[in-house]
Amino acid sequence: MKINYSIQNDLSFEGIILPYFKECKENYNQLEILKGNKIPTEFLVSDKIFKGEKQETYNLNFIKDNARLEVMLVGLGEKKELSRRDFKKAIGKAYKSLKGKKVVSIGVYLNEIEGLFDSEEEVVKNTAQALVVADYKYITQKSDKKEEKLETVTLVSNNIDDNFKKGFGEGVSLGNNMEFCRELVNEPANVMTPTELANRVKSLGDKTGFEVEILEYDKIKELKMEAFLSVTRASAEPPKFIIMRYKGNPGGETLGFVGKGLTYDSGGLTLKSPAGMKTMKCDMGGAAGVIGAMGAIAENKLNVNVTAVVAACENMVAGNSYRPGDIIGSMGGKTIFIGSTDAEGRLTLVDAVYYIINNEKVDKVVDMATLTGAKVVALGSDTTGAVSNNDEFFAKVNKSYDKAGEYVWLMPSFPEFKEQLKHFEADLTNSPGNPGTITAGLFIREFVGDTPWVHLDIAGASYNTKGKDYISSGGTGIGVSPLYHLAKLMEK
Ligand code: BES
Ligand code: MN
Ligand code: ZN
Repeated sequence: MKINYSIQNDLSFEGIILPYFKECKENYNQLEILKGNKIPTEFLVSDKIFKGEKQETYNLNFIKDNARLEVMLVGLGEKKELSRRDFKKAIGKAYKSLKGKKVVSIGVYLNEIEGLFDSEEEVVKNTAQALVVADYKYITQKSDKKEEKLETVTLVSNNIDDNFKKGFGEGVSLGNNMEFCRELVNEPANVMTPTELANRVKSLGDKTGFEVEILEYDKIKELKMEAFLSVTRASAEPPKFIIMRYKGNPGGETLGFVGKGLTYDSGGLTLKSPAGMKTMKCDMGGAAGVIGAMGAIAENKLNVNVTAVVAACENMVAGNSYRPGDIIGSMGGKTIFIGSTDAEGRLTLVDAVYYIINNEKVDKVVDMATLTGAKVVALGSDTTGAVSNNDEFFAKVNKSYDKAGEYVWLMPSFPEFKEQLKHFEADLTNSPGNPGTITAGLFIREFVGDTPWVHLDIAGASYNTKGKDYISSGGTGIGVSPLYHLAKLMEK
């Protein structure tokens, strides 16, 4: 699918998306792109066939002069109540249902949008992003890659100025980088090995404009990342420590991102159940989110410095596996009792977080990880759970989630929870018990020091086996847009 924009004169589409606010006054029937066809909105609304409620869709089809026209009305509810999230869901849903009708071209008419969000630019950006996101489907491993009927999607407006173009470019870039992230998650663990992940990061860095450095086993060992190396030990795949650097504000402060990059999590000797293991290719969803964000940040040339790292490996089973009951070291120097080899993510993360703070000298750090099943129990799959040591920095992260139209919720860090990290034979235990999402976050905090830090648990959010009406199944791309917006909030 190609996406572009145009003023409405002389355009001909097979499908048209008409977003509709409840208070909409415009008579759509004057729209040139309708080629004289009439949309009986007054009748539809007064007869309560279509009320314009959020996410409500209504399809009308016309055939005239042997040309087909499918119109998809999509409700947006009341303008002052509409969130960015609901807006994107509505656009995505309308797009996916029109695409299902096998049209070759779609026009999206942006109507009465003044006053929505912060600017028209933002509306255009969210529209473009939602369309690109809704278009993607993971087909790489299918032998029969059916040719798509849909060729072009066009944003139609009477006023295409520089702001419109800027919003369009940013939205398409965000959607594309989310797609890159989703493809990383969707590729199975036999394809998406740590080596393959590192290679794809290199190609993204070349394409969008950030620097990539890969640390191999010997260097990782020299850095004394014993926690990371314990996790990877039983894997036949070599670990990779992936470093990404983008400098958009030389001399200014640097934001740090850390992504959990378990290309597969079998649980290790604390083996997962067959059902639990089946989707564990998704355990590099945090890494994929960070990588996608770096792509978007570099592509949009943000005036900010961002460094990101991923300790990529697999958690497997072999004669040299690390064991429940082992006590291991870490780059930060603390010793860790292994209560469960399935609590492996935090082990890779503490070395990565310690490294990015002390060796890359970042000023603030966000880590993103598919860390705990407990997060799904506490907040469901769509919401990201956060733990932080700094209210001011979390407020920024919270704002960036709002801009991105994704959900985040800060968990409490009550003092008693920290007590649970203690172990009678080691400095810390890696399985400190309930509340599992919080104690996992607090475990990472032990390696952070005073650097402002936010931990984002995206378990269940970065991948789902069932699609939704605005996004297909598989990797969701969650986290890319909030991290991008965080970097944008920190521009000079
Ligand atoms: N990768 C899992 C968490 C996960 C669960 C991600 C579901 C995506 C969907 C993580 O490594 C894990 O196994 N966590 C354990 C921690 C426990 C052993 C302390 C868990 O949640 O059970
Ligand atoms: Mn695990
Ligand atoms: Zn894991």
